[in-house]
Amino acid sequence: MAAGKGTRMKSKLPKVLHSLAGRALLAHVVHTASSLQPRNVVVITGHGATEVEAASAGYTGAGDTFSINFARQEPQLGTGHAVQQALPQLADDGVVVILSGDVPLTQADTLRQLIAVGAGSKLALLTLELTNPTGYGRIVRNGDAVQAIVEHKDATDEQRAIREIYSGIMAVPAAHLRTWLGRLDNRNAQSEYYLTDIVKMAVADGVPVVAHKISDELQVAGVNSPVQLAELERAYQRQQALSLMEQGVRLADPARLDVRGSLQCGQDVSIDVNCVFEGLVSLGEGVRIGANCVIANAQIAAGAVIHPFTHIDGEKLGVSVGPGSLIGPFARLRPGAQLGAEVHIGNFVEVKNSTLANGAKANHLAYLGDATVGERVNYGAGSITANYDGANKHRTVIGDDVHVGSNCVLVAPITIGAGGTVGGGSTLTKDAAPGVLSVARGRQVAITNWHRPKKAKP
Ligand code: UD1
Ligand code: CA
Repeated sequence: MAAGKGTRMKSKLPKVLHSLAGRALLAHVVHTASSLQPRNVVVITGHGATEVEAASAGYTGAGDTFSINFARQEPQLGTGHAVQQALPQLADDGVVVILSGDVPLTQADTLRQLIAVGAGSKLALLTLELTNPTGYGRIVRNGDAVQAIVEHKDATDEQRAIREIYSGIMAVPAAHLRTWLGRLDNRNAQSEYYLTDIVKMAVADGVPVVAHKISDELQVAGVNSPVQLAELERAYQRQQALSLMEQGVRLADPARLDVRGSLQCGQDVSIDVNCVFEGLVSLGEGVRIGANCVIANAQIAAGAVIHPFTHIDGEKLGVSVGPGSLIGPFARLRPGAQLGAEVHIGNFVEVKNSTLANGAKANHLAYLGDATVGERVNYGAGSITANYDGANKHRTVIGDDVHVGSNCVLVAPITIGAGGTVGGGSTLTKDAAPGVLSVARGRQVAITNWHRPKKAKP
């Protein structure tokens, strides 16, 4: 269910598209659903339907055997009415697991247990005990047997004292669901079609109702406001930090780490405070990440050190940093930066779509874009590849053991042959043969009788 408005988010963006750990809330839910290997995933949309549908089309992965289907609910007349819209897309011989698009942290194992408890024939409800059950539907039992779910607004004082609540998640045989939803009415405090009313119908029809009670509130916590979103984000990040530390990763402070995607770490990795990892990042054995780094879609090989304040973003092309390389502080590696072993990239150096072979160094204030840089090249402070002519990008090729002095401009397309030297301050527009010294700048002149201007005396 993803049709609700999410008024309390006070946002133009539909609630289920707000991000938790770098992914839309709804993406978390669809991902969890997909790990159950379902026959079919139906997303019920309403508010912001076109936006939600466009976004969710991308939530299936390569291994998924289903596509995402949509059912529009307009207007939104309650959760029972929402599920009614999906009925035409559900086969009668299946079990339907009903989830909310704004409850992102349910674990697939919990859902598997819920489905197992329902055994393909019962109505299985995911429930939990809360110290403060206000607002939730209460599980009304007669002895042990579940009799009904009563919504908070419809509950008597006696029922409101019940602390076992309905999580919003159930597993129900599709054929039963179809019959029961056909009998719903909206005679209740909110004049809504309540999905939860099917519980008393099951009881009346003699279909067993079972509650699968869990104790982890996080798994059923919904997002209704920015505060709740931030709370869930912190809880989720805490879980990820704990799991990394259990694998042996040393975190300077587990409360100051954000993983928005997947972070794979080898042995003896250490991460200082305030680092953000996005997309797919892998850190090889012994990698050290300094404070305040943002690293996205990158592979950092064993022994590399990323000094503080470094920004790495591989986007679609990726970034790879070779073993033993030293990056930063204040370095920027952009998509397609591929660095070999023992490469040094220093402060205020930007590398984009460039390959640097083993032992190449660019230590200060430089730009390498669309370049192929050979082994052991030393690329001087302030030097840049002029890779863009205003319309097209061109390549710069720098051979092995080239020494580029400071403040050079290499106007691409250009090739500097192996072993060559480029004099500081040169602007090169032509290829340089291997081994030569290229100098392209005004010659130094000496003006002997030069007097510096002096301030006139008042
Ligand atoms: C629902 C349950 C309640 C349970 C609680 C758990 C009902 C009647 N009540 O209450 O027993 O304790 O969840 O959080 O089901 N939605 C639609 N279309 C609609 C209405 C809702 O798609 O017409 C979606 C919402 O976007 C949301 C989900 O359904 O994702 C739940 O709706 P919400 O209004 O939050 O239900 P509650 O009143 O909280
Ligand atoms: Ca709710």
